[in-house]
Amino acid sequence: MARLNVNGRVREHQAEPDTPLLWVLREHLGLTGTKYGCGIAQCGSCTVHVDGAPVRSCAVPVSSIQPRQRITTIEGLSAKGDHPLQKAWVHLDVPQCGYCQSGMIMAAAALLKEKKQPSDADIDAAITNICRCGTYNRVRAAIKEAAGLTKTAAVDIVHVVRRQA
Ligand code: FES
Ligand code: FES
Repeated sequence: MARLNVNGRVREHQAEPDTPLLWVLREHLGLTGTKYGCGIAQCGSCTVHVDGAPVRSCAVPVSSIQPRQRITTIEGLSAKGDHPLQKAWVHLDVPQCGYCQSGMIMAAAALLKEKKQPSDADIDAAITNICRCGTYNRVRAAIKEAAGLTKTAAVDIVHVVRRQA
């Protein structure tokens, strides 16, 4: 029995040591928010955080993760789906099919931890995830909104309420 620290909990699993972390999360621990796309570390749909850094979990053998390392998946990013990025994603209707989006958000969350107000170049460098639906412009806009670089959902709601008053 091996142990992982996932979303603040110690979890046990019996996967073979060379099993990719992605499959342990999905198949052994039931955390299916993290998606399988390419399996070769190219698309980013499997992005999770290990000690706060973005990792493409399809290409990481589970045995390379130490029990003391903190893994965060999309399920653990926020208590109630209320991370600023998740709010901006909803506000700007970012997803189309949605398949790539948890990986996008996890990559964006890691970026915002490093750079509170990322430039376009920072976003381009950090978000190399692939979206087959082409949501790239909305992803960029949502990252900027979450960073406070553009108006927020809360500001919009205030304006709507004032217009209706
Ligand atoms: S499934 Fe891991 S990068 Fe594509
Ligand atoms: S929203 Fe469909 S692949 Fe990105």
